[in-house]
Amino acid sequence: MKRSYSLLLAGLAVVATVSGVAIAQQQKDTAKPAEPAKTETTQNTAMPDATVAAAMPLFDIKSVQGMEVGLERGRLIAVGVCAECHQADGNSTAPAWPKLAGQHEGYIAKQLYNFKAAEPGKNALRQNMVDVTDGKAKTSTMAAQVARLSADPKEFDKDVQSLAMWFASQKNNSPDVAKNEDTVGLGQSIYRGGVMSKGVPACAGCHGPTGQGMFNASKLGAGANAFPMVSGQFSDYMVAQLQAFREDVRGNSPIMSDIAKRMTDNEIKAVSDYMAGKRLNANAVAPAVAPASTEPKPAAPAKP
Ligand code: HEC
Ligand code: HEC
Repeated sequence: MKRSYSLLLAGLAVVATVSGVAIAQQQKDTAKPAEPAKTETTQNTAMPDATVAAAMPLFDIKSVQGMEVGLERGRLIAVGVCAECHQADGNSTAPAWPKLAGQHEGYIAKQLYNFKAAEPGKNALRQNMVDVTDGKAKTSTMAAQVARLSADPKEFDKDVQSLAMWFASQKNNSPDVAKNEDTVGLGQSIYRGGVMSKGVPACAGCHGPTGQGMFNASKLGAGANAFPMVSGQFSDYMVAQLQAFREDVRGNSPIMSDIAKRMTDNEIKAVSDYMAGKRLNANAVAPAVAPASTEPKPAAPAKP
């Protein structure tokens, strides 16, 4: 997985910062060259979860029972359960698996509650997902993951809070970049000003001017009003989520479903690409694009 991701990145020559957005410029003919590498990445993400799971040593959730809520409990479960897809520090390496590093505690906790049915026999609020590989709806992979946490409700709460604490405390050290220079302008205008004629509100109003979302640790629960960080997240993941909100496949946010229903695929792709390249520190020079590369490259040479 790591290898194909760097292959994709190898095709991206330079990073420029435009209004706090890191953009990967293709060497030439901006539109086409990204496609083959992208397809390869997407195919690899289709690796069946069973294959991944089979490679992991078994983790017994009973080993954390009785531990206090805290980073250590969170870390142990992250290593034992979540790492196979999200990495232990939440810096996932493929767009099918969202990055959790640095995401808000309240948001992470809400999602974990929403992936689980509130009562046996009832549907979970966030039950289904759009598969990023084929765009079709299927049961969310996360249903099986929350089922691996403690069965006892009180211990489950402790698992969730500890996991939220752990991933929120990690740093997103491999932020995605905006890849489509042609749509960055449209993405920026939607993000900052919405689409007035269609009643689409400015995303920045809730997700913040730099895409940092909103911190609200005061409330941890299934109904928390949590605005997630969107900067540095995989654009393909965000496209899939916006489509899932629009088609009512993801059912845990009436607000986002209403917003997404007013948007075309083109607008969804443009704003997702833009958000992926947003940086929390808008004045920072964008880092070199490939996480594998150790030398930071200077930003923004002239376009070919
Ligand atoms: C087998 C792969 C896999 C494992 C293991 C896994 N996840 Fe996930 N996770 C996913 C996928 C796929 C999604 C996107 C789900 C969707 O769209 O419904 C996701 C989404 C999430 C989200 C929502 C993120 C967002 O931005 O909305 C959270 C939170 C999360 N996972 C936490 C965890 C935690 C905590 C663990 C360990 C207890 C874990 N995951 C284990 C595959 C996995
Ligand atoms: C009124 C507030 C509000 C506005 C405006 C808003 N959002 Fe959201 N957004 C939210 C909330 C709240 C959530 C979390 C939903 C949940 O709890 O699952 C969210 C979730 C998301 C997610 C899912 C993130 C993830 O990690 O899965 C994406 C992507 C997103 N919003 C994009 C946008 C875009 C693009 C716009 C502008 C067109 C926008 N939002 C405008 C409140 C808002």
